Amino acid sequence: MRAAFYTEQGPAREVLKVGEQPKPEPGPGEVRVRLRTSGVNPSDWKARRGGSGRGLAAPLVIPHSDGAGDIDAVGPGVPVSRIGERVWIWNGQWKRAFGTAAQYIALPSAQAVPLPQNTDYASGACLGIPALTALQAFRLAQVQRESVVLVSGGAGAVGHYAGQFAKLRGARVLATVSGDAKAAHAREAGADSVINYRTEDVGARVKALTNGRGVDAVIEVDLTANAKLLPAVLRPHGVAVVYGTGAAEASIPALWLMLNSATLRLFLIYDLSAADRAAVLDEINTLLVQGRLVHAVGQRFPLDKIAEAHEAVERGAVIGNVVLDIP
Ligand SMILES: NC(=O)c1ccc[n+]([C@@H]2O[C@H](COP(=O)([O-])OP(=O)(O)OC[C@H]3O[C@@H](n4cnc5c(N)ncnc54)[C@H](OP(=O)(O)O)[C@@H]3O)[C@@H](O)[C@H]2O)c1
Repeated sequence: MRAAFYTEQGPAREVLKVGEQPKPEPGPGEVRVRLRTSGVNPSDWKARRGGSGRGLAAPLVIPHSDGAGDIDAVGPGVPVSRIGERVWIWNGQWKRAFGTAAQYIALPSAQAVPLPQNTDYASGACLGIPALTALQAFRLAQVQRESVVLVSGGAGAVGHYAGQFAKLRGARVLATVSGDAKAAHAREAGADSVINYRTEDVGARVKALTNGRGVDAVIEVDLTANAKLLPAVLRPHGVAVVYGTGAAEASIPALWLMLNSATLRLFLIYDLSAADRAAVLDEINTLLVQGRLVHAVGQRFPLDKIAEAHEAVERGAVIGNVVLDIP
């Protein structure tokens, strides 16, 4: 099969190769998926580049955890009725050598989730990390109807879904962005107010927009950069759910967080408990079937151009998700 792979970590153009690899056979409890798309996420380039304690996961890595396609074979113990199912993939390359940047992947049956007919394969490649991360963040924040939420980085791949989940829960959304195009993108996802974090005083704007009260929850894309804003934006007893950090360490306003009984929650989408995984899959499936999610595929590349796709994600050059089309 045709696949993209690397055998050493480094810059995209130096280490990513595209060529022939053995077609996998599904083992017990596994399905094999003929992939149509593969989603590129920041953690894919971070794993490929290495550093910050990330070593090479296997002698040969086929990258990417997200993707979508059709089940074309099943292993022992999996009903043959699954053959032909349209599916999307989660954790395709989490603690596994062979991810979705290939014509085929064999993986546990539960990691290939039915993709409704109303959702195309490119959108299906945005679900495993961006959509599930945003959804889990909202579950941890316990956002209620009429809560006010600050979505930090509201135009990001995760942030765009976060705005939608906030609105679906009946919350009011404030979103930070870095410019007009990102402001428009965040508004499409449901942001009621946008704040340019590069040119405006975020704390003052949030206070003005909440009558001085602060928001009930912050969904944070970069704890290292933004922890210092928490005293200015979060209300007492509020919660900040962190899914991203720009550096390995962050300085947090510890005394303010303690004096205000604030909650700081961090999580890794790859590593959900079985109960959380079941809950997010169930909710995503319901929303997909009901056609209530907007997917933002920002740019598509053919598999052969995987290095350019990684560079685009690494530079933050694309508004929306970057997706590879698999031949
Ligand atoms: N914990 C997890 O399981 C998990 C899951 C998914 C993603 N992540 C991490 O979360 C981060 C975002 O992922 P993504 O796929 O959404 O990436 P993305 O599509 O590149 O979005 C990131 C967004 O954040 C904005 N941003 C950057 N610095 C910011 C700051 N200081 N304040 C506010 N906004 C800022 C960026 O826009 P501007 O630069 O123009 O502001 C961009 O719109 C990555 O670091 C990723 O590794 C973690």
